[in-house]
Formats: sequence, structure tokens, C-alpha cells
Amino acid sequence: MAKPKIILDCDPGHDDAVAILLAARQCEVLAITTVSGNAPLAMTTANALLMCQLAGLDIPVHAGADRPLLVPAAHAPRAHGATGLDGPPRPDVHLEPASNDAVGCIIETARAHDDVWLVPVGPLTNIALAIRQAPDIVERVAGISLMGGSVGPGNVTPTAEFNIWADPHAAQIVFGAGAPLVRMAGLNLTHQLCVGPNESATLRASGGNVAGFVADLFDFYLAGYRERAGLDAAPMHDPCAVLAVTHPELFTFGARQVAVETIGELTRGMTVADERPGAGTMPNCEVAYSLNAAAALELIIDAVCSRD
Ligand code: RIB
Ligand code: CA
Repeated sequence: MAKPKIILDCDPGHDDAVAILLAARQCEVLAITTVSGNAPLAMTTANALLMCQLAGLDIPVHAGADRPLLVPAAHAPRAHGATGLDGPPRPDVHLEPASNDAVGCIIETARAHDDVWLVPVGPLTNIALAIRQAPDIVERVAGISLMGGSVGPGNVTPTAEFNIWADPHAAQIVFGAGAPLVRMAGLNLTHQLCVGPNESATLRASGGNVAGFVADLFDFYLAGYRERAGLDAAPMHDPCAVLAVTHPELFTFGARQVAVETIGELTRGMTVADERPGAGTMPNCEVAYSLNAAAALELIIDAVCSRD
């Protein structure tokens, strides 16, 4: 069976880095586009190039938006470090971006193919700009599988998840675009897929260079969750959005009408899913509620170790 064609829009980011390796293994990645999020755009772009060089991936990287549509840019150094990919020793990166026009790449690629999935795993700025510039792509893409939001607690605030909170206006455009198929992997789902010391040990035992690098990423990422939340497990948020495309059978989904709060003093960036029985509201996305975490972890470990 042919691998799904995707554009991975990301803000590497420890979990984005794993999503890049998983996408390279399970998909035909037509392009990686980068956005300001976990770190400033220059760093998220450098980190995407670093992962492509480290893993020997021949995938064009296009830099995108360096700030959200309206709100000030915000980053997540507590989770990902100042570079966005703290932990392992940083190799010299000699790859260059294919362009600084991620939005143009998204539009042209969506128009050149009939079945491209857009897989955004950072703030939705690039996707929103592409939809605004070229509304025709909404009907052309196979779907949008995003990591963002939550139908439970947030992470950056009690109500909002970082990707949506960082650019709520972009998220409002994407959820309101009327795409025929949108899958939402929110925190309620992604916290079911965690890595811990065992996964780091498994990667190190494989002896591979890429696996060792990712084990160092896991150790840094995990230390942050231990310190902030007293957890001995770190959620693999972004790989969930890739797996929702490649292995939907591992998930349960619920068709929901999801709206984005853009102005609430306490609720900016909250994804409000209408879960009332028989609400009658028109669903605009499939919210992921559960997944087979053991199978998902196996696919992640396989993808990382396959690059060595
Ligand atoms: O809230 C989790 C999301 O924010 C993930 O995509 C992570 O990489 C950060 O971007
Ligand atoms: Ca991300």
C-alpha cells in the first residue's frame, strides 16, 4: 500500500524531532515546513535541518512564519531548552532551507497533488496563512491531522494547549475552514503516549547514532516533566498526529464541533469541543480520545532505530 503523502509543519521541539523520524519511516514526506513555536523560527528551522542531516533524510525544509498572526510570539524553553532541542551535543549543520516560503510550498504542493495530508504539530500560523491565501486547498487536501488543543486540561494554561494558545487566531481559521477531514490529537490523547527511562535504554542498547541522539533528547525532555510535574514519563505529543494518518486503527475518534477561544482572559487558546449528547452542532473534526500506546511506541522505536 502506498505511503500517505504529507507535509509536516513543525516547531522542533523534542517531540517534533521524533515526529520527523516517524513521518520519514511511515510516510512520503513531500516537505517539512517550520514555524515559530517551541523556539524562534531560526532555531526551529535549524533543528529540522539538524534532524534531516542526522538521519540522512532527503526532504526539503521550508521556513515559514516567524510570529503568530496577531498575538506576540511565545516560546517554550522550559520544555525544550533555549535551542528548542536541548540535551544531546549539537552537531554542526551544513544543510540549508530550500526556501523561506513555507506558505507558498504548502499551497503549491497541495495544488500539485490530489491527496496530500497537512500534518501541523506546532502553532497553526503557516496553515492558516496558506488557507487564507489559497482557500481552494481546503477541499484539495486529503485531510489535516494536527497536534493541538485538548478536550481536557491545558498545559500552558489550565485551559489551553501550547500550539493553539501560541496562535489562537490561526487555529480559529483552521478549525473554521471547513476541511472535509480534520483529526485533532489533543493533550487528552497525547498524554496516553509517553516515553520514559525504558525507552531511552532501548534506544541506547540499539547502539545507533540517531538512536543515541534521540535517547539524549528523551532524557532532557523527561527531566523537565519530572521537575515540573513529578512525572516519570514524557508525552510524545507530535508523533500522535502522524500516526492518526498512518495508523488510524490504533485510535478511537469522536466527531465533534470544536471552536477556539481567542479572547478569553482565562481561556485564550482553549479548544471548546461540544460533547453534549445530541448537541446537533455540525462536527468540524474528529477528536482523538484513545490510542493503543504499546503499538504506537513500537512504531516510534522502529522509526528511530531504522535511521542507523
Ligand atoms: O503542547 C504540546 C505541543 O507544543 C507539541 O507540539 C510540542 O512540540 C509543543 O509544540
Ligand atoms: Ca511541536
